[in-house]
Amino acid sequence: MMSANKAAWSPDSWRGLPIQQVPEYPDSAALKDVEAKLASFPPLLFAGEARELKRRLAEVAEGRRFLLQGGDCAESFAEHGADHIRDFLRVFLQMAVVLTYAGSTPVVKVGRLAGQFAKPRSKPTETRDGVELPSYRGDIINGMEFTAEARIPDPTRMLQGYRQAAATANLVRAFVQGGFADLECVHQWNMSFVRDSSQGPRYEALANDITKSLDFMRAIGITAQNTPQLHQTNFFTSHEALLLGYEQALTRTDSLSGEWYATSGHMVWIGDRTRQPDHAHVEFVRGINNPIGLKCGPTLEPDGLLELIDKISPDNEPGRLTLICRFGAGNVEKHLPKLIRAVEREGRKVVWTCDPMHGNTISADTGYKTRPFDRILSEVQEFFAIHRAEGTHPGGIHVEMTGDNVTECTGGAVAISDADLSDRYHTHCDPRLNADQSLELAFLVAQLMQQEREAGTLAAASA
Ligand code: PEP
Ligand code: CO
Repeated sequence: MMSANKAAWSPDSWRGLPIQQVPEYPDSAALKDVEAKLASFPPLLFAGEARELKRRLAEVAEGRRFLLQGGDCAESFAEHGADHIRDFLRVFLQMAVVLTYAGSTPVVKVGRLAGQFAKPRSKPTETRDGVELPSYRGDIINGMEFTAEARIPDPTRMLQGYRQAAATANLVRAFVQGGFADLECVHQWNMSFVRDSSQGPRYEALANDITKSLDFMRAIGITAQNTPQLHQTNFFTSHEALLLGYEQALTRTDSLSGEWYATSGHMVWIGDRTRQPDHAHVEFVRGINNPIGLKCGPTLEPDGLLELIDKISPDNEPGRLTLICRFGAGNVEKHLPKLIRAVEREGRKVVWTCDPMHGNTISADTGYKTRPFDRILSEVQEFFAIHRAEGTHPGGIHVEMTGDNVTECTGGAVAISDADLSDRYHTHCDPRLNADQSLELAFLVAQLMQQEREAGTLAAASA
């Protein structure tokens, strides 16, 4: 059903509205040229896939599935190797299997990848040793090097972003459909530096249990040949819809339904800095039919949230809207219950997920931006406890993570200290969990999910 609200929308109706975080391109003709080129390129996905993700997210909203969303804070052009993608996918699949098996719940897998290039910044400029330059805004906009030239927004970077997104999505599809996600491979996902560390033996024990279950299933005739779920999995892509010229160029009408879809990623979200109800970013997403995420930070009040829900999800379609809460450890109790109560009172169908990263960034004494693992964990625990108290479903987690052995977040069983941060600090933006910390978090979340099941807010697993 087309609501009156949607009738006035077009892919460019955001233009002319107030907009935050917009790069200043010096050459507007070159920008137009690139956007026109992008608009002539093939879409990166088929709208039916975005609808499939929405169906699965609707089941998350009903408490029958759990959403795992994660990946780099910012993908980089320099780090576009097959190993980086494969290693991310391995640890992501490990996390998913831990949540599915130890948490007894089917997991919807959504990567922050194949398009996660543009970054909102807290300040428009950055000053180092008295020199002030425009901030780095992600590889799709400008360069990270601290030189005047690199920091000039360059529209041709969008073409490189598009190609990298296409290549990444293609490799992930090949891995996921070609047998890499086969449950028979659970042991092979354990990378050597994880196998030798704190979480390795724990994961091996779980993988052994899965192998035994598969042996049993094979004995009674359930095999990868007759049961594709054992052999393949579903994996979806997502990113922040920040750079609207790029998003508009990849927005197309679906030939089957006649509806508009962003074809840059299956799910896109609005960041905490660009969610003003009358501004450009909200205007853009309200007309596309993809599943939409909305970051909810400490400044969001219940009335403001309801206004945004009205705009983004006027038909109240389950799976359409995922609220990604990021309040910071110790602050969840202050902000989340009032939002949940408003949403429940108004009968709005949403998915609630916890981003325990963006409210927990601190500066280490050494000057590095970091996130202590115990704060990340606390925020997830607070999120689960509040949903338990409110009788609602803690639907998922949203994390910044990598399969690489980096030292960006402190703590965890590997006990990374402030002094260790300089060893392998590679992020292009915010600090990410490394493979070991990601897996440790998954085990802890699986425990929380078991408690939910016992408390009855998580429905029994279904096929
Ligand atoms: C992010 O997800 O990288 C981000 C910038 O988040 P937020 O908008 O919640 O600050
Ligand atoms: Co980030």
